[in-house]
Order: sequence, then structure tokens, then C-alpha cells
Amino acid sequence: MSAEQHNAPRKVTLNILRYNPQDENDVPRLQACDIEEADGMTLFIALNEIREHQDPTLQFDFVCRAGICGSCAMMVNGKPRLACRTLVTELPTESTLTPLPFFELIGDLSVNTGKWMRGMSERLETWLHGVEENVDLRKIEQRMTPEEADAVYEMDRCVECGCCVAACGTAQMRPDFVGAVGFGKIARFRLDPRDTRNDDDYFEVIGDDTGVFGCMSLLACQDVCPKSLPLKTQIAFLRRKMALIG
Ligand code: SF4
Ligand code: SF4
Ligand code: FES
Repeated sequence: MSAEQHNAPRKVTLNILRYNPQDENDVPRLQACDIEEADGMTLFIALNEIREHQDPTLQFDFVCRAGICGSCAMMVNGKPRLACRTLVTELPTESTLTPLPFFELIGDLSVNTGKWMRGMSERLETWLHGVEENVDLRKIEQRMTPEEADAVYEMDRCVECGCCVAACGTAQMRPDFVGAVGFGKIARFRLDPRDTRNDDDYFEVIGDDTGVFGCMSLLACQDVCPKSLPLKTQIAFLRRKMALIG
């Protein structure tokens, strides 16, 4: 084999689900798109190349390209992943890309995670409770220990990508399930000493089968979370606390 042949870039086929739910005549289908792998190429770069050079109608989401905005989550060979954090070199020669299940499909690989996240946030009231309305800026800030701050910021790393919900068996069966992302938010405010809610208040929003008691504890959520949040520990802890009340 010559050096030239040896270094030839690998050809990769991406079978991409195409479907426009707005068009009643459209039917879901897989479109095979071939690309040449390049050094450091992410799936996000590959999809951009396809859109630029092969099919400008391809729909997928992105904002940051750096694993921070959570927009580019999709199913890669059946597993939820961020396209901008997935190297093409990690993929086999042929891969299948489909949109995240559970969320409203906008078209092709684009889903409306934002709409669902907002609904979840309003339902669980994922904001600080007990903060004075007119804050006196001359007053010294409320104190928090470094350990408390670390624990809160650890959970605040969630990018609301939806991967945990897409991988969750319970969420596929019940659309009203709050999902691991919802538990993560409750855990975050529970850890925050500034929040005045107590466990009875949290029980009101997650103390049933749409909350912690619907969780099957198989922990697909933790396996796929691109930010490696400690979902397992937090869900188990919340369930214990909620069981004491129920
Ligand atoms: S552990 Fe619970 S929240 Fe996580 S994937 Fe399983 S059912 Fe869903
Ligand atoms: S908990 Fe992890 S997987 Fe779930 S939305 Fe947040 S970052 Fe994504
Ligand atoms: S584009 Fe923002 S996480 Fe991938």
C-alpha cells in the first residue's frame, strides 16, 4: 500500500432522518450522505458540510459549538449525544442520525427542547424562592460556604440538552414525567441555602409518579449526560427524602 493510499481520508456515510412534520405529504425517510473525514472533524462540522455542499434544506440546531448551549443533541446510532462534542473518528463507517425522541419535532434533526424545558421550569418553579423583591444593594450579600457553592454550581452545569430525557424509559411512556433534568433542577435549589422552600414544598412538585416515584432507577440519564452530572446520587437522595414525607 502506498503512503498516499494509507493516508486517504476515510469515507463515512451518515444516514440522516429527514421529515417535515409541517408537510402532510411528507414521510419520514433516511437520507444517506457521504462525507470525507478530516482531522478533528466533529459531527457538527460534518452536518454543516452536508448542509453547505449537499443539501441546504437539512435542519439541525446549534449555537455554541462548544458543548455549552445544549442545542445540538441528537440520536447518534440510537444514543443521545451532542453533535459538537462527537468526533467523526469515534463513529463507524456508517452511522444513523435521528432527532431526540420525546420532544416536539421541528424538522429533520431539529427538536423543540426549549419549549419543553420552559414548561418543566414553570411547573417545578426552578428559580430562587424567598429572595426579597427590592434588594438593598448596600446590604452584605447572604453568605454561602465554599462547599455549598460548589454543590450548587455542580448542578448548575446542566446545559438543558435533553439527552437524559431522550434516554429515559419512563419519559417515553409518560409525557408528563419531569425527567432527570427536572430532578437535577430541584436538587440544585434544594442545595441552595438562599432558597426558603422545604421538602414539603418539593414534594408538591415531584412527590408522585410524574416525579421521583415514576423513576425506574436504571440510570440511562446518568450514562448519557454530556456534562456528567451526578444524577444518580441526586435522584436517589431526592427519592429517599420524598419517601419520608409520602
Ligand atoms: S433513572 Fe429515572 S430519570 Fe434516569 S433514565 Fe431512569 S427512569 Fe429516567
Ligand atoms: S442533566 Fe445532563 S443530559 Fe440532562 S439536560 Fe442537563 S446536561 Fe443534558
Ligand atoms: S452547539 Fe452548543 S452544545 Fe453543541
